[in-house]
Order: sequence, then structure tokens, then C-alpha cells
Amino acid sequence: MSRQILVTSALPYANGSIHLGHLVEYIQTDIWVRFQTMRGHDCRYMCADDTHGTAIMLRAEKEGITPETLIQRVWDEHTRDFAGFHIGFDHYYSTHSDENRELASTIYLRLKEAGLIEIKTIAQLYDPVKNLFLPDRFIKGECPRCGALDQYGDNCEVCGATYSPTELKNPVSAVSGATPVHRDSEHHFFRLGDCETFLREWTTSGSLQEEAANKMQEWFAAGLNNWDISRDAPYFGFEIPGAPGKYFYVWVDAPVGYMASFARYAADNGLDFDAWWGANSRTELVHFIGKDILYFHALFWPAMLKYSGHRLPTAIYAHGFLTVNGQKMSKSRGTFITAASYLDQGLNPEWLRYYYAAKLNGTMEDIDLNLDDFVARVNSDLVGKFINIASRTAGFITRNFDGKLADGVENIELIGAFQAAADSIAAHYEARDYAKALREIMALADRANQYVADEKPWELAKKPEAVYRLHEVCTVALNCFRLLTLYLKPVLPKLADQVEAFLDIPPLAWDDAQNLFIRHRINEYRHLMTRIDPKAIEAMVDANKQTLEPTPAPAPTRHAEAQAHAAQPAAATPAPSTIGIDDFARIDLRIARIAHAEHVEGADKLLRLTLDLGELGTRQVFAGIKSAYAPETLVGRLTVMVANLAPRKMKFGMSEGMVLAASYPDGHQGDAPGLFILSPDSGAQPGMKVK
Ligand code: MSP
Ligand code: ZN
Repeated sequence: MSRQILVTSALPYANGSIHLGHLVEYIQTDIWVRFQTMRGHDCRYMCADDTHGTAIMLRAEKEGITPETLIQRVWDEHTRDFAGFHIGFDHYYSTHSDENRELASTIYLRLKEAGLIEIKTIAQLYDPVKNLFLPDRFIKGECPRCGALDQYGDNCEVCGATYSPTELKNPVSAVSGATPVHRDSEHHFFRLGDCETFLREWTTSGSLQEEAANKMQEWFAAGLNNWDISRDAPYFGFEIPGAPGKYFYVWVDAPVGYMASFARYAADNGLDFDAWWGANSRTELVHFIGKDILYFHALFWPAMLKYSGHRLPTAIYAHGFLTVNGQKMSKSRGTFITAASYLDQGLNPEWLRYYYAAKLNGTMEDIDLNLDDFVARVNSDLVGKFINIASRTAGFITRNFDGKLADGVENIELIGAFQAAADSIAAHYEARDYAKALREIMALADRANQYVADEKPWELAKKPEAVYRLHEVCTVALNCFRLLTLYLKPVLPKLADQVEAFLDIPPLAWDDAQNLFIRHRINEYRHLMTRIDPKAIEAMVDANKQTLEPTPAPAPTRHAEAQAHAAQPAAATPAPSTIGIDDFARIDLRIARIAHAEHVEGADKLLRLTLDLGELGTRQVFAGIKSAYAPETLVGRLTVMVANLAPRKMKFGMSEGMVLAASYPDGHQGDAPGLFILSPDSGAQPGMKVK
């Protein structure tokens, strides 16, 4: 029976570019949706940009544009990136829409009617310069537990403590640099605690993966807190009905954005909204998300739906996080790779789709994109195994048989084995165990290649008496190729299109697996897919290295600028003209002994220094001090360096820090030219901290 399925991926924030981490999710979802459609189900894929919140408001302000202009520009970029990776949304909307405003308001009012909204006055940190309540991520300070400096307002990255931003010691606003003050304000809370009985039941009803259901038990044990769903003006979002100056917190209207995207789509396509979202809906509702946003989707969202008279999710499928070469994506290593930069290198999006599919197994485990393995795997599986079958056999059909397949085949065993795999491969796709599906498909490809290698059509073609056999062998091989294409089509939709054109067949659906492919004229084979050139991968990583830009041969006078840059808060705001003590404390200054110093060939300002930091080891630093110092006069001296400057890749190698030197700023040379590196007083030891 045909199923009706509404599928969503999480709505990406409109304040950043789509990167390869995001794509894990959109590729995972898109494969599942394409699979369901091939099975003949009525499957609709909804998404949207998540456009509200303080971060977007501040970013627009910084760029001197309205938030509306900003989110439109990002929508254009996001939809282009997604299309580039063949993500086939049926509708990609925006949370900043009339439908969403209306649905969010209705849901809120129904929760209020149900007695689930409570108003309470709370004190929060307020930026007296920007006149703004500060979200946790825009406050930095010292961890109340371990005293670590420069921690965000919600948790400590050093000791793992979680706390409220009002507990931070010596807090500073990352927006203005001002010291925040406590200020009272009325907030609207969703009484999540009142929904506990329902949630306990729902979270064990089979809609969650086992690991997620277990996680829920931990959250129940910790106790459900009421949820603060309002924010004060100024805020980019929807005003709460009946509460002027109060806005829905972005996470309220974000999931409602799934509904709103569908509402608009339904209106444009003549579908009945209530049949899909009403309390008695018999359709399936499936949310794909990352494990980081499970709390929102498995607790807040079902409670919002339930108590506003809507249907509940059928399934929530959470995936793990992407690592690149075994590590968290990193801007300095160039592994924080944007979708656009991948496409800009001319890399084929289906290579990545294939690689992710080969790694995704339907659990919440993290998945690793190892760039060497990526090249090897794609080249070997897709080009070496899959495409190879057609490229070694199709030419004979064209040249020797006028493009026509045989009228029948005697050896039905191999094709039969391929057909028999359809159910098991489908079960793996259904369970989102794409890794298993692809292993099974590639094992079939191995068998087909073995068959071609054994039958050697290129030798049969030389013997006139083997013409019948040649026809049979090539027909069998192309049957195998067609079935492999069918099985890979959810992962490689574009390639499948090309194969369908080459074989001159209508779009493959899952049931077509049971048909025999004979008595049919195919088109001439043209090359379907190239190998990955590892150089293009290197170029992509280089293009994403954010530290590549600053100062290929830095003059010492630019160091102050570099320091200000390093100390800038994470929020995208202009650097304040004064800095707090905490900003200063972020700079790790250390005493270093110059262990080696030498000229750098081809550089007229730089010396290469090896700095000894005692127990902290040694660092290589390029310093623009050649005009003032001969290398041999420096060896053995103590100086002061910035030890936590992100390593920068320079023309001559990595520079892992910066030596401090005094000089007049550019354009104010005065009478005393020159450059003076700093030295500590006698007795200082390498590795000592300078404060
Ligand atoms: N806007 C929220 C979601 C609202 S849904 C009602 C959000 N946006 S996001 O842009 O940060 O992330 C979008 C999705 O991409 C999330 O499901 C998130 O888990 C996923 N990923 C973001 N970075 C990722 C990796 N590095 N790896 C895998 N998935 C990642 O959260
Ligand atoms: Zn701490």
C-alpha cells in the first residue's frame, strides 16, 4: 500500500553558509526521500531557513542592511548550495513567513488556553551600551566552578560545568565589550514539567532510536525545567500575541517552520493541511535531525504539538556529527569546508553523496570524512567497479549489434541474484543503514566484474563463431549495470539520469528491478564519471584555510592589528576600542628562548626562529625583524611571544606564534627608526607566563 510521508530536515540557520557538516543531514534525508519515492510512496520533503534571533539581527546591523535583506541573500545562497548537491526539497521556505507567524501564534494561544504558559519575572544580563538583553552566547567570563577565563555564558569548555550566565564571574558583553548589568524582565514560560507523563510515554513509544530514548531517560531523571519561550525587544522574530515588546524565542517558531513550509506548499498544490497535521492525521511525519538538537525535537516539539491539538511525529531520526580526518572541522586546518567551495573546485557532488552514504548507518555515531579514504573509495567503488561494467561491455553492443541487446538470455543466474537482492537492499535503505545497502550493492558489482573478467568479451569479439555468446555476455552485464544503477539511484540521482538516457529507458522505479532488460536498443556509451583528482581536494582545503590571508610577510607594525584580531570575541561585531581585562587575558604571552635563528631564502623581511618554551616545547615562528637583527645575535636570547595565536600558513612554512617587538606605527616613524624585540628582566625562564 502506498504510504503518505512528510519528511523534514532541520532548518539551517540563516546566519551562516552551508558546510559539509550540514550536508550529512540533507544528503541522508534526500536519499531516504528519493528511496521512498522510487518505492511508489507519496513522500514530500519540506525544509526552510531558520531566520530569527539575536545573532541574525546583529549581523544585519553590522552589515548595514535589514534582517529581511540578509535572510533573502542567505536563502538564495542556501538554495543554490542545496541544488548543487541535488537535494530535492519539494518546498524550501523561510521561518519569516506569514504562515509561520500565524501557526506559531495559534499554537502559543492553544498552549495558553491549556494552562501551560506561565509568566514570571526573571533577572538577566543586559548590555547597557547596546540596550539589549544578552543571549548566553554573547556573554563571556570566568567559569564559576573552575575559574577558566573566556568561557561562554552557558557552559565551560574547560571543566564542562553548565550554569546560567548570571553566575559567570567578571562577565563582558561580546557585543559591545561593556560589563553587563542585571535587569528584571517578564518572561513567558512553557510548563514542560506538566507534560512529563505524556512525554515519558511518547518517548518510549517507538518514535525514537534506542540511543535517543535512553538519552531521554537521563533527561527525565535530571528533571524537566519549564522553558523560557520569550525574548525582549529588540529581537528579530514574531511578537507574541497580547504581549507587546515580547517575541517568540527563535526555537519556538523554528519547528513550527516545518508546518509553515508545508502549509504554503499545500496551498500551492491543493493538499489538505489538516489531513497531514491534524490530530487524527494518518500520514507519517518524519524528522531528520542532528543529535545536538534532540532535546528540542523529542521534548519541546511533541509537547507543543500534542497540547495544541496537532498530530505527533511518527519518527525522529538523529544522526551524529561530521569529523574531517578524524577531527572536529577546523577553520585553521581548512577542514571547515563550505558546500560552495566544494562545488567551486569542480568536485562532483555525487562523490560526496556516495561517501556519506557509505558511512551512514542510521545511528547517532559521528561519521568521519577522511579525505584520502574519500578519494580512494570513490575512485575504486564508483569508477573502478560500477561504471567499469558498462564501459567494458556497451561498446560491443553498439559496434557489433547495432545498439541492440539480445532477445533473451540463457544464463539467468547472475541476473536472478541481482534481482533477488532488491528486498534486502530496500530494507537497509528503509532503516537508514545506507552503509549496509552499499556494501550489498558493491558485492553485486564485484560479481558482475568477475563475470566480465571471466567471459572476456574483448576476446569473444575476435572470434566470429562466438558472436552469439558475445551478445549474451554484454546483455547480461548491462542487465547487471541497470540493476546496480537502480539500487544506487537514491544516492546518485544525477548519474542515474545519465544512465537512463544512455540505456534509453524511462526513470527507474524500485519495482523495475524485477524486469528483464532485453530486446531493446541502447544509445552509444559516453563516459559517465571521472576519477577524483586528489589535487582538487588539496585546493579545496587550501581555499578554506582562513588563516591564509593575514600577512604573508608581516611587518612588525602590523602585529598590534593581528593581536586585536586574535582577541576579538566570537560574535561578529566590530572590535571595541577598549578591551576588558578578560580580552587581554585571552592572549597567552610567554617567555621564550630563541634556540635558532636563520635567514629565510627569498624573504627580505623575515627570519625563521625556533623558540624554546621550556615545558611547552618548541615553536617555529617567522618574524619580520631581519632589518634590525642578524640571526646569530639573537640565538640564546630571551624574548616574549604570543603563544596562542592560531598557526598561520605562510609561503615559507607554518608560523606558530608571534614575537613581540616595539616600533612606531606605520606613517609615524619619527626620528628613531628601527625595531626592538622585547626581553624580560634577568631570571625569567622559558615557558613563564607574562601577565
Ligand atoms: N536552526 C537549527 C535547527 C532548527 S530545526 C527546527 C539548527 N541549525 S544548524 O544550521 O545549526 O544545523 C542544521 C542541522 O545541521 C542540524 O540538524 C545540525 O545537527 C546539523 N549539523 C550542523 N553541523 C553539523 C556537523 N558538523 N555534522 C553533522 N551535522 C551537523 O540547528
Ligand atoms: Zn570551568
